Amino acid sequence: MMANNSTAQNNAIITAPGGEHDRCGWFQPCRGVRPPAMTSNGVVWRLVLLGAPGVGKGTQADLLNQRLDACHLSTGDLFRAASKQKESEQSPAMRAAMEHMRRGELVPDSTVWEMVRERANSIRCSAGFVLDGFPRTLGQAESLRRLMESEGIPLTAVVNYELPLAEIVARLSGRRTCEKCKAVYHVTGNPPKMDGVCDRCAGKLFQREDDWPESITVRMAAYERSTAPLIEFYRVQGLLVSVAATGSPDEIYARTMSALRARA
Ligand code: AP5
Repeated sequence: MMANNSTAQNNAIITAPGGEHDRCGWFQPCRGVRPPAMTSNGVVWRLVLLGAPGVGKGTQADLLNQRLDACHLSTGDLFRAASKQKESEQSPAMRAAMEHMRRGELVPDSTVWEMVRERANSIRCSAGFVLDGFPRTLGQAESLRRLMESEGIPLTAVVNYELPLAEIVARLSGRRTCEKCKAVYHVTGNPPKMDGVCDRCAGKLFQREDDWPESITVRMAAYERSTAPLIEFYRVQGLLVSVAATGSPDEIYARTMSALRARA
């Protein structure tokens, strides 16, 4: 269970080791280099990013983390980092989670929530946060709602990225990820300067197992069945902001911020 938080804890900017653009941390912290970015009425950005696999949530979360200096939680990154642990150090639930992930299925809610709850302190980050890939089911969304309610911390908005399926599949099949810092590239859309080598840390680039065609089909079906209903869940709460995920990452970032500011 989470400890009760004092005002001092609420105001502290949570910091943790990790490079400036490193997505591999459990929770990519804000760097605390400047005062928190806020909406026009002084609200800190606390965002959930929704959208189909490969729509570009991770790419946008990275930009939001860099430019708003908000904390970044990617449950997919959490699971991929856990998969690097020795098998003997992994719990049975975590080994089962890896299998689900390889096949492109969702990890059971209980395992996901265990992981997120361990890092629940981070929702108090005074610079705000970006949740990327969580929540992904109505059960997870309810757990998050209860946690935030108990902390007295509201979400600012839920950004739903939209893109035609053909473009999503093209993005996924060309994705390459750095094995060291987890920076994300695309073989044609956003290639590294040197083939197979990360521009940021010179790490080796690899293709994710769940980006193989058979897993992509399973992931899309899981999205339609379990995650798409969250669009309505957040719409009725008045939190949903839909953004077209077409164009360059910078264009989408600008579109996201102008939609968020218009709403704020
Ligand atoms: P996760 O890692 O969250 O995968 P995902 O949601 O399927 O999302 P992706 O990371 O595939 O895509 P993205 O939208 O972040 O796109 P990206 O920016 O990389 O989860 C993986 C697995 O973990 C799940 O399948 C599940 O098993 C498990 N899991 C995780 N969280 C869970 C949860 N809460 N509950 C249950 N299970 C969970 O971009 C994709 C590509 O497009 C890249 O190559 C990128 O360079 C390129 N690109 C991005 N933007 C653009 C652009 N504007 N123009 C051209 N190319 C672009």
